[in-house]
Amino acid sequence: MGERYAIILAAGKGTRMKSSLYKVLHPVCGKPMVEHIIERVEEVNPNEIVTIVGHGADKVKEQLKDRSQYALQAEQLGTGHAVLQAAEFLKGKLGTTLVISGDTPLLTSQTLDNLFDYHQGKKAAATILTAHAQDPTGYGRILRDHVGIVDRIVEQKDASSEEAQVQEINTGTYCFDNELLFDALEKITTDNAQGEYYLTDIISILKEAGKNVAAYQTDDFSESLGVNDRVALAQANKIMRQRINRGHMLSGVTFIDPDTTYIDAGIKIGAETVIEPGVFLKGQTVIGENCMITAQSQIIDSTIEDEVTIKSSVIEESLVRKGADVGPFAHLRPQAEIGSHAHIGNFVEVKKAEIGQGTKVGHLTYVGDATLGKDINVGCGTVFVNYDGKNKHHTTVGNHSFIGSGTNLIGPVNIAANSCTAAGSTITQDVPENTLAIARARQVNKDGYADHVPYQQ
Ligand code: UD1
Ligand code: MG
Repeated sequence: MGERYAIILAAGKGTRMKSSLYKVLHPVCGKPMVEHIIERVEEVNPNEIVTIVGHGADKVKEQLKDRSQYALQAEQLGTGHAVLQAAEFLKGKLGTTLVISGDTPLLTSQTLDNLFDYHQGKKAAATILTAHAQDPTGYGRILRDHVGIVDRIVEQKDASSEEAQVQEINTGTYCFDNELLFDALEKITTDNAQGEYYLTDIISILKEAGKNVAAYQTDDFSESLGVNDRVALAQANKIMRQRINRGHMLSGVTFIDPDTTYIDAGIKIGAETVIEPGVFLKGQTVIGENCMITAQSQIIDSTIEDEVTIKSSVIEESLVRKGADVGPFAHLRPQAEIGSHAHIGNFVEVKKAEIGQGTKVGHLTYVGDATLGKDINVGCGTVFVNYDGKNKHHTTVGNHSFIGSGTNLIGPVNIAANSCTAAGSTITQDVPENTLAIARARQVNKDGYADHVPYQQ
């Protein structure tokens, strides 16, 4: 099979994106495009990967870390010039080099494998990965001679109107004989409409040198979508989303409407889980089996165990244990840990707090910086008053306690197990076990005063 190398082109600014974020770092289904690319490249097991960086070099390196070597393209003089920067690592080595753009995130490793196989089978100096495009606008066109052999690639801006009619496009991915690649790169000029060193010119250079150039056409154009602007970015997201959702459905997850359910790449969902429309699952999220996630929920970097119901809620960096239910309209902020079979009801916000097994926080409550034991009932409108304007303070509530509605628990304070607070209490001192704490003014009834209430006059 010989050695395999890969060069990822990621130095461009992405002017057409009109963005301060470098193009290859724009996410598709939650992952930067260049991250998708390196994952696919790794799946074809190259001996070395070189990523060409320029604009945003530090950010790209931060993303890919030591999964790649890096060659700096200080000035973006074109894709041919970009590949040449890898010479310090690869020039003169024997083997096959995959060149791939950082902006084609939908390519699959199966297609890359097929490209390698085709290249080897044809004993070619270069093999272009091509596709048939319904609308080829913007792509380089593959020009073949009268017997169908590849002649050259012409860029959109250099194409005659006749050439522009060609629907077979260059995906920007190629296999090259490594030695011939670096020899031919020396010969590329900037004699074209954009004044750039085009990698695509290498095809005619190799042909003129009598080398064998091949083209392998994928049957799925959508894989080769090149993201140059935000219209294509949205299309790429849509295609990737369909692929991801299809994969989950085939593994036993029910989607009420997969077209409006937004699941990042890499998220795990257990079988028999049902997901309603408008749901976003993002980042490092894991969803268990037999869960129900209802419309418009957003779950980010969180773990939801089996048999959990999430009703139209926002959950960030949190853990919801088996059998619990959350919402509707609850907000779990970072470090909320909801115990098994616990209940978090409507308009409840939880932050940096542990809620024990079977505990119920049913309505209109804020729980921040707290540890709650098991089987506690927290009444409606309770506030864990955790912030004094400078510092955050912790509150603990012991097992089987009952917090009356409208209680303010002023942290730091401890409510021991089996205790109660009377509704409307403002608790500033610890409450011992088996105790009822009442901390509110006594009611005074003023006889006859109702006549003095202005609105009744
Ligand atoms: C390129 C191809 C075109 C093909 C299309 C497929 C050339 C000349 N054209 O056009 O035939 O149909 O991809 O999507 O190759 N880059 C650098 N340094 C540079 C210039 C670009 O690293 O100096 C990187 C970019 O970051 C990008 C990739 O190369 O990841 C492709 O560059 P881009 O400007 O997107 O080329 P296209 O116009 O899409
Ligand atoms: Mg492009």
